[in-house]
Amino acid sequence: ATPSLKEAYKNYFPVGVAVGPRNLTGPEADLIVQQFSSVTPENAMKMGPIHPEENRYLWRDADAIVDFAQKNGLKVRGHTLCWHNQTPRWFFTDSTGKQVSRDVLLGRLKQHIDAVVGRYKGRIYAWDVVNEAVPDTSEAVYRQSKFYEIIGEDYIEKAFEYAHAADPDAKLFYNDYNTENSAKREKIYRLLKKLTAKKVPVHGVGLQGHWSIYEPTRQELETSIRQFAGLGLQVQITELDVSVYPKEHERRAKKPTDTSQLTPEMVKQQTAQYKMLFDTFRKHKRTLTGVTFWNVSDKTTWLDNFPVPGRKDYPLLFDQNYQPKEAFWGVVKF
Ligand code: XIL
Repeated sequence: ATPSLKEAYKNYFPVGVAVGPRNLTGPEADLIVQQFSSVTPENAMKMGPIHPEENRYLWRDADAIVDFAQKNGLKVRGHTLCWHNQTPRWFFTDSTGKQVSRDVLLGRLKQHIDAVVGRYKGRIYAWDVVNEAVPDTSEAVYRQSKFYEIIGEDYIEKAFEYAHAADPDAKLFYNDYNTENSAKREKIYRLLKKLTAKKVPVHGVGLQGHWSIYEPTRQELETSIRQFAGLGLQVQITELDVSVYPKEHERRAKKPTDTSQLTPEMVKQQTAQYKMLFDTFRKHKRTLTGVTFWNVSDKTTWLDNFPVPGRKDYPLLFDQNYQPKEAFWGVVKF
């Protein structure tokens, strides 16, 4: 039988995967149960999908994922309670279309967090409470989101307090991407330092881990893990994938790599990158309390068509036929 990620890492950390309702039947469901010990709803618990209108919640997809997890003995990470994306306009406006006040928005945020965290209390062990509150490029510490504009910087601590009140046992995470970029890492570090100093109930930092075969380096990754651990926080890799395209380079050059072919060279580099990442994760097992992949297999990944329309990516450990790739063997054999 094929070895499994969950078996190989049982003395280290749970290995999770982002899923939607479409993954819960057929060959993908089998692969999830065989390989992973945790799931994260890819979209189903975000504000837009779960709370499309005031006082109307759509629980169906989120319930299906949590039920599937329970039935199969998988842990669940909740994702995400407060984010600038996939959040409906109604949240920030009143019935006449006018922007709501700080108090109204705080009330809505509290009500939302109470309802969602409360519904799954005891069944979700960790929540991404605030997602991507720090911008990449600008000098600003805080992303200029509607939450920030209307409430001010304390929307972040409020979100953590509401989540903690709704489920005191859940581990609460601040989650972000590009955390190996030193300028952004510094900003996130200072934000978390401030929160922990104020005794805000934040327990961990999620490094999304949307990486590539060129990035991060071992040193960049270790710096992140060590620095956040220094605040007494757990670290989880929450959205791991290793694109075969050079992300940072493309961003800087503002020019996509013009290929959709998985070359033997890419396969080799991807295997080496995944080995390096998991070597590092194992080494930091006292700090690192979870690693979650963002999607099941290369058959469909959110990186198909993103950031480059029409371009296929191959960022995961299972191929388009759900078979283990070379990188999989690099990760399970150590
Ligand atoms: C992505 C999903 O994978 C897509 O299906 C959706 O269209 C957009 O969001 N950072 C996050 C995740 O925190 O929620 C995002 O998920 C990927 C980037």
